[in-house]
Amino acid sequence: MEVFLLDVLKPKTGNYHLEDYVKTRESFDWETVKNVFSWSRTGKVNMAHEVIDRHVDEGRGEKVALLYSDSNRQESFTFQELKKLTNQAAHMFKNLSVQKGDRVFIFMPRTPELYVSLLGAVKIGAVVGPLFEAFMKDAVKSRLEDSEAKVLVTTPELVARVPRDELPNLETIILVGDNVPEDSGFVSYYEKMKTSPTDDSAKEWVNLEDGLILHYTSGSTGKPKGVYHVHNAMLQHYQTGKWVLDLKEDDVYWCTADPGWVTGTSYGIFSPWLNGVTNVVRGGRFSPDDWYSTLEKNKVTVWYSAPTAFRMLMAADPTIIKKYDLSSVRHVLSVGEPLNPEVVRWGYETFSHRIHDTWWMTETGAMLICNYPSEPIKPGSMGKPLPGIEAAIINDNGEELPAYEMGHLAVRTGWPSMMRKIWKNEKKYQEYFAISGWYVSGDTAYRDEDGYFWFQGRNDDVINTAGERVGPFEIESKLVEHPAVAEAGVIGKPDEVRGHIIKAFISLRNGYEYSEELKKEIQAFIKTELSAHAVPREIEYKEKLPKTRSGKIMRRVLKAWELNEPAGDLSTMED
Ligand code: PRX
Repeated sequence: MEVFLLDVLKPKTGNYHLEDYVKTRESFDWETVKNVFSWSRTGKVNMAHEVIDRHVDEGRGEKVALLYSDSNRQESFTFQELKKLTNQAAHMFKNLSVQKGDRVFIFMPRTPELYVSLLGAVKIGAVVGPLFEAFMKDAVKSRLEDSEAKVLVTTPELVARVPRDELPNLETIILVGDNVPEDSGFVSYYEKMKTSPTDDSAKEWVNLEDGLILHYTSGSTGKPKGVYHVHNAMLQHYQTGKWVLDLKEDDVYWCTADPGWVTGTSYGIFSPWLNGVTNVVRGGRFSPDDWYSTLEKNKVTVWYSAPTAFRMLMAADPTIIKKYDLSSVRHVLSVGEPLNPEVVRWGYETFSHRIHDTWWMTETGAMLICNYPSEPIKPGSMGKPLPGIEAAIINDNGEELPAYEMGHLAVRTGWPSMMRKIWKNEKKYQEYFAISGWYVSGDTAYRDEDGYFWFQGRNDDVINTAGERVGPFEIESKLVEHPAVAEAGVIGKPDEVRGHIIKAFISLRNGYEYSEELKKEIQAFIKTELSAHAVPREIEYKEKLPKTRSGKIMRRVLKAWELNEPAGDLSTMED
């Protein structure tokens, strides 16, 4: 199999963290990372302490921790300032009787208040749940319901999407906005923060295995799953910040992901701040000008983004990039979907940077297979496993396959940031470990003779659109709630910029006729009920959808129709 579309890109010479590790690759032990942290002596830990307070204790209080900007605001915060603010937020939650282990959800756009609330809740030992701001009522409700969230932090604009009456466990809603009247039934964030003390007496020392964060993510069946991570994940957040992000003291780091997704927390909050670097957060929407100017203005040195974004930059007018001085940037990384070799080529030619692909998942909590600044890159490959990580390509029986054979991408269980459960769903959790000794990712891949891994696809129906994971089932269920829709099947259709777009096949109920107008109405329905990123960009009407005899929509057949490919075994299809 000849796959190299580009020559191997050699590393630039430099003093990279990974060079130290190469010497110890064989003997690397995650336990050694513990010595960085004070809890290696006390046994008690708190992520919020380690990402913020520790830097103040160690004399870095005056260093800028957060450089925030959006079209209206431009603010910077030192570690000392964030320590005080997160202490206040911790007191605020404590006064609202949040206790260790309670779920505090945060549903708001990227602003400093989001970061302060999230770390304030972590500081008292609560389990935080960040929700992407584009979620609509149903998506918000199902997550708050499943997690039994006790407190929600949101904004006056977004609170209309929170069906409070249907959420008996939701005791308090805190609104981040001006003029929240006292008798509104809501708590005013700014009022509460003002009256909360800045001391750290609300800080709760927890155990390494205590809950930190819940990220909901989609599978191919059923509702979104609450992926539960614990404080112990910090070992891997910290260490991959060194090996892969190559973070050093003076770096200005920008991760473009929203904290509603795992990249936006593991690598938008924990990893950079465990490493004590200045973290850039840019609010608002993507545009090439806005992003390049964010890099320029903040003198970003390390930049972590996603293939879709790189493809959009690549598709933009090539004169745009020339307007900006991007010379501060020294290291660029990508995650979330396959990084096409032509994007790597674009990055190298236009930008003079190798884009380092990294592979991991919500469930893995942190990076597992990566390209490193000190190692050659084979464009199109996800790279090689981290030290201390055993990844393999296995067959259904758990046997390791030789180089170039395609199979399940699997990881030997037991890395520090691995999810510890699927919230209230032990069965779903166990499904990942059905092959003894392995975590089975659901991705198909192969390995080459140099140990580089090559992504080939998902082996379930999960759709990756613009780097966001969407479960077809959730969209199908919502589609059939529309009065016109009888049945629905949803697939990912290959797309140049977004990787995949969502395409729905629908049949209609009696009395309805398919039209452009109905299509728009159905799209608007999904957008208001679920979220913008779940909207099928294409909808195709079919008189009947292919189903198994037991009534399951055969997405495989829909895919074959779409791609003009043979549909394979149809023996289970109804007549
Ligand atoms: O299919 C793989 C794809 O994204 C899935 C995980 O999605 P999510 O949990 O949303 O996490 C995304 C960011 C951590 C994987 O099962 N994926 C992730 N990284 C890559 C990738 N596919 C190809 N190449 C990658 N580098």
